[in-house]
Amino acid sequence: MYLKNAWYVAGWAHHVGNDLLARTICDEPIVFFRTEDGAVAALEDRCCHRSAPLSAGRHKGDEIECGYHGLRFDRTGQCTSVPSQDLVPPGACVRSYPIVEKNRWVWIWMGDPARADESLIPDYFWLDSPHWATIEDYFHVNCNYQAYIDIQLDQTHSPYVHPDTLGNAAKLRVKPTVTRGDRDLRCERLMPNDEPPPLWAKAAKIEGKGDSWNRWVYTPPATIMFDVGAAQAGTGAFEGNMEFGISVHNSHAITPETDGTLHHFWANARDFEIDDAETTAKLGIIRKVFLEDVAICEAQHRRRVQFPGAPEIDVAMDHPTIQARNLLARLIEEERQGGGGSAG
Ligand code: FES
Ligand SMILES: [Fe+2]
Repeated sequence: MYLKNAWYVAGWAHHVGNDLLARTICDEPIVFFRTEDGAVAALEDRCCHRSAPLSAGRHKGDEIECGYHGLRFDRTGQCTSVPSQDLVPPGACVRSYPIVEKNRWVWIWMGDPARADESLIPDYFWLDSPHWATIEDYFHVNCNYQAYIDIQLDQTHSPYVHPDTLGNAAKLRVKPTVTRGDRDLRCERLMPNDEPPPLWAKAAKIEGKGDSWNRWVYTPPATIMFDVGAAQAGTGAFEGNMEFGISVHNSHAITPETDGTLHHFWANARDFEIDDAETTAKLGIIRKVFLEDVAICEAQHRRRVQFPGAPEIDVAMDHPTIQARNLLARLIEEERQGGGGSAG
């Protein structure tokens, strides 16, 4: 089940260039291309003549030419010409999707185009700010997108999945504060005067105890922004003094491809030492950290497929992920009943 009246990230801006890009989102095959004015267009990837994938065709200026019999389609999905005849048959068109490029991500609206509201797109300004540096990538992951959102929102896996980098036992001792909004869910875990996560401790050159934090905002259906970091204990980082600490913004767009696969577009962004190659190299380990999430989630997915419907028990530390699932479930249900349901 997917929320349709919602923005999803379809790709990094550089994924869409001169070549046609085929990408499935929420089980819908879509072809992306750039028109001559540089705008991104997205069309249903199925020709209305005999169902050949348009992505197997050719990009001709502002149009796609189907690779089977040469029908042409413009950015709106309208068929503009048919070889060997003068008239375009009535109704010859394919679906087009609303697209917005913002913060170097290509956002696609999967529902009713009339309800596509650009103001619902969350602001990830650090992805294209000259004052921030990013380490970023794209993973194709073989698991359900909600299970993958779970692992991002659940910090208690860190000491077990990322013991040498993000894992610190304080995440198990300190309970997070979760705040429910109408359209989002926020979580904050402050860990004062405790063992900081090894990766942030190293980057911030912390000796001994640190003050560390993990804050996230989940915007349904599938984007999460994090403010995470650590500082030397007692130096006022929780009050905003970052002289003795570092803070990074991790950004995750987790776009369902099918029920059992997803696209993960992610970035680690920082506003300190932005031109320092050594810092970039040090923080580059974040890629390995995120691949550890991929490995455990893909393994979990294989078991869930092997044992469909097998009962699982909840424990107290699951409450942020359960609240996130409840929020998305409510929006999907409202949409199913024809009500609100719109989300960024
Ligand atoms: S299938 Fe596309 S032109 Fe025939
Ligand atoms: Fe993780």
